[in-house]
Amino acid sequence: MPGSKENTSERKKEHLEICLKKDVSFKYKTNGLDKYEFEHNALTETDINKIDLSSKFLQCRINYPFLISCMTGGTYESVNINKQLALAAERLNIPIGVGSQRQALENKEFINSFKVIREYAGNVPVLGNIGAAQVAESVNPAGLIDNLAKMIDADAVVIHLNPLQELFQKAPLPNFKGLLKSIEKACAKSKVPVIVKEVGAGISASAALKLINAGVKAIDVAGAGGTNWAAVEMIRNKNNNEYFKDWGLTTSYCIKEIAPLKKKHKFTLIASGGISSGADIAKSIALGADMAASANVLLKRAAADGADGVVELIEEWFNDVKKIMFLTGADNLKELSKVKLIKKEEMY
Ligand SMILES: Cc1cc2nc3c(=O)[nH]c(=O)nc-3n(C[C@H](O)[C@H](O)[C@H](O)COP(=O)(O)O)c2cc1C
Repeated sequence: MPGSKENTSERKKEHLEICLKKDVSFKYKTNGLDKYEFEHNALTETDINKIDLSSKFLQCRINYPFLISCMTGGTYESVNINKQLALAAERLNIPIGVGSQRQALENKEFINSFKVIREYAGNVPVLGNIGAAQVAESVNPAGLIDNLAKMIDADAVVIHLNPLQELFQKAPLPNFKGLLKSIEKACAKSKVPVIVKEVGAGISASAALKLINAGVKAIDVAGAGGTNWAAVEMIRNKNNNEYFKDWGLTTSYCIKEIAPLKKKHKFTLIASGGISSGADIAKSIALGADMAASANVLLKRAAADGADGVVELIEEWFNDVKKIMFLTGADNLKELSKVKLIKKEEMY
């Protein structure tokens, strides 16, 4: 993510260390998915052994409606983490994103930390990544996107929106003037699809609509309730501001608000922000997301147990998704998207 030029790699290293070692959760806010329960179907006829969780993403068949979120790159430490995440993505046949490639645009020292993803995930969709500030300031946004895709042989490039995080970085606040227009230019002329995500403060329906009209192919809400990037920056910069530490639209709220746009517009809706269980994934789909994604939980697992640990965790989650589908009578993902969720307070 952006900041002053000379220390991009150092900043990335600190982000990794803080996310791995410190408490960067929201103090009061959850991602909202915990507020729902599934309507139990005592009359289920679903055959749990016949449930097919495969789906399509960027014209590719993937085994689960899930992606490993954009995280790291640009540091020595990120080489092995990205290798482990890439090995896991390849084994699971799911998409994977790289962290912001800004560092690699500045110098080539750690370019391998980005390239390693395609090297070990040769057959799955790979997503490039860049910050909104770099897109807003680019004179040729489509050229920028194409360069990033070419650098790592990516199938699409993700632009991350992170105004809250930027606000609490030490570096001067970037000028976002013209951002939407630049995103539109990128979508119109780049050779690869453009995806837009937040980093943990969520995307509203009105922002999503503008992005879809600009030509964005997928929106990853990256809502509040998971990794808290205001908190990460406050730890880095040794300051504190309680109010903004709880800022952001929860993941469940974003999905509920944006999903109705799918009736009129064609785009992929990705649920992320604190996704850390099969129940979170299944609830996201029942609320209207096409797929889910996770970042920090997988980073921690990759650092602790390598690719095997990441594969084990994601398989565990999807075994739980199958159990939920059995208990709600959903034979497939389309039916899961229609099962009823009950607000917890309505149970009593
Ligand atoms: C160590 C770390 C680095 C990250 N770097 C980026 C990045 O460079 N670009 C980006 O789009 N998101 C980045 N993210 C944000 C995640 O993709 C994700 O949107 C956010 O952490 C919320 O998901 P979570 O609650 O599952 O962690 C990063 C996350 C982590 C944990």
